[in-house]
Amino acid sequence: MAKRKILVTGGAGYIGSHTVVELFNAGYEPIIVDDFRNSQSWIIDRLAQITGESPKVYQIDCSDENSMKAVFNEHSDIFGVIHFAAYKAVGESMNEPVMYYQNNVNSLAVLLKVMKSFKVNHLVFSSSCTVYGEPKHPIVTESTPIQNATSPYGATKIVGEQLLNFTVNASANLKVALLRYFNPIGAHESALIGELPQGVPNNLVPYITQTAKGIREMLTVHGSDYETSDGTCIRDYIHVVDLAKAHVNAISWLLQQENKVCEAFNLGTGKGSTVLEIINTFEEVNDLKLNYKIGPRREGDVVQIWADPSKAKEVLNWQCNYSVKDALLHSWKWEQNIK
Ligand code: UFG
Repeated sequence: MAKRKILVTGGAGYIGSHTVVELFNAGYEPIIVDDFRNSQSWIIDRLAQITGESPKVYQIDCSDENSMKAVFNEHSDIFGVIHFAAYKAVGESMNEPVMYYQNNVNSLAVLLKVMKSFKVNHLVFSSSCTVYGEPKHPIVTESTPIQNATSPYGATKIVGEQLLNFTVNASANLKVALLRYFNPIGAHESALIGELPQGVPNNLVPYITQTAKGIREMLTVHGSDYETSDGTCIRDYIHVVDLAKAHVNAISWLLQQENKVCEAFNLGTGKGSTVLEIINTFEEVNDLKLNYKIGPRREGDVVQIWADPSKAKEVLNWQCNYSVKDALLHSWKWEQNIK
């Protein structure tokens, strides 16, 4: 039987590339659309090294309707789409709101239009726990209320979810999974693919690994006077390979749906870690000392949030297999392996 084709926008990016590997592992044929504005083309060779298969790649901006149509024309048998392509830096989005809305919202709108005209009815959308804002209770389920966005980035995720809900309502049989990611960390065990932040990292773990490598002088812990066990913020850090596998499960769940559907799923481990716990675990598993200091709070930080992932477990038959220790080992192995 021919392999099912899945179009992966942003397939050379951090979560996208790991998902391409898992799609191959599960017997799908991923087709990558990526314009490499936030990713590197050599990642494609690495994907081939890991999987022994070469994905088809189109260097296209997925908000370019004609180019997208050409891809769908060439592959009339695309079964579904996983839409990663988007900007994702909260701070940058504060300075560039138009750029964020234009890229993140417009590309989704174009994609939906093209999918409709080619009768492709399965879509996995990259959302974020940012939709919950600062929740009343730190552990969130999918029915925890969505809050007003505090950044244009967050707004594009909320608007994206709304657009998808409305589009499913208006459609005959569109099936959508909204995957709300918590904090992805780690890298593929092979250390051939991983996160590649451009410039100074905003996120904790790449900042840690770059400090350990000597690229950054010192990590600053953003605040230690929060009302948590050690005063630092709590997040749910999930290994990127576990996260990638959830996309494969989401695709197979969509395949089983007879009627139109738009469902959200939390993708986290269900366990929170403080910033200091992450630093200590990183030092312990990698047997090194990290240069860090305590600094002031970072504006806009959520104090504490972690996932209740039980819906993803029950409905998608998915759960995490890697620990935070594994993820921090793999992040460091990857950092040392980056050319
Ligand atoms: N942190 C530091 N020092 C750093 C970087 C981060 O102490 O140099 C702390 C932050 O203050 C926070 C924790 O580490 O307490 C995690 O910060 P990240 O920037 O890694 O992640 P965030 O949870 O702030 O942001 C992530 C995604 C966003 C998404 C958000 C949703 O990067 O895309 O989760 O809550 F919007």
